[in-house]
Amino acid sequence: MGAARADEQPERQRTERPERPERQERTERPERPGAEQWVPRGAGTGLDDLRRAAEGCRGCELYEDATQVVFSSGSPTARMMLVGEQPGDQEDRQGVPFVGPAGKLLQKALREAEIHPGNVYLTNAVKHFRFAQQGPGKRRIHKTPDLVHMVACAPWLEAELALVDPDVVVCLGSVAAKSLLGKDFKVTKERGVVIERELVHGPMSFVATVHPSAILRRKGADRATDFGAFVADLRVAREAAG
Ligand code: URA
Ligand code: SF4
Repeated sequence: MGAARADEQPERQRTERPERPERQERTERPERPGAEQWVPRGAGTGLDDLRRAAEGCRGCELYEDATQVVFSSGSPTARMMLVGEQPGDQEDRQGVPFVGPAGKLLQKALREAEIHPGNVYLTNAVKHFRFAQQGPGKRRIHKTPDLVHMVACAPWLEAELALVDPDVVVCLGSVAAKSLLGKDFKVTKERGVVIERELVHGPMSFVATVHPSAILRRKGADRATDFGAFVADLRVAREAAG
């Protein structure tokens, strides 16, 4: 799985967007054809084409309950691409990645690492918000995407990587790292180091680190320590970006 191992693309056919199924019609075993058939290819395809096409993606069931697809933000010519997990509650409402609490922490870390926010491209491994509704107010609680969702959504990430072609890709947390570096990748073992991988369109440097949400869950001095380590990992990536 993953962008690092994409090779030949199957012939694609445009399919009509299926109607949004009614809740009671949903099956226990959702269909997950994967995003590939929705990804536009060919000469002249740009990020805006990808963004528009992603609105119609039915590659897995996560589009059913989410408000909208959350594609990416930032500079298409960025030398650094940051990949998160999936949109959170705020991102799902606004349609923009990293605008909630984790995003604020990420922006602060980028400033400390002296990475210009105008020189990054921000995206997620999974592009629809996965959540469960709980409690009397039916609060939407983030649910980590499963491997099947990462696999289904990977063609979007592969297409973004090919188009942006950054110098370095930062994997924020385990979902991004598994999506890009393989399902057995352990951030705890291999964080903050430059990992070289061969992609279809050439070599690419990756740096894996923790997810900013993991830092937000820590308290007091632990949070400060983890934040410092996160900034140090981002500096490694900045240096890899040259
Ligand atoms: N967490 C992520 O991984 N991505 C977002 O866009 C927001 C929060
Ligand atoms: Fe498509 Fe990814 Fe959304 Fe699933 S999560 S519907 S694969 S864009």
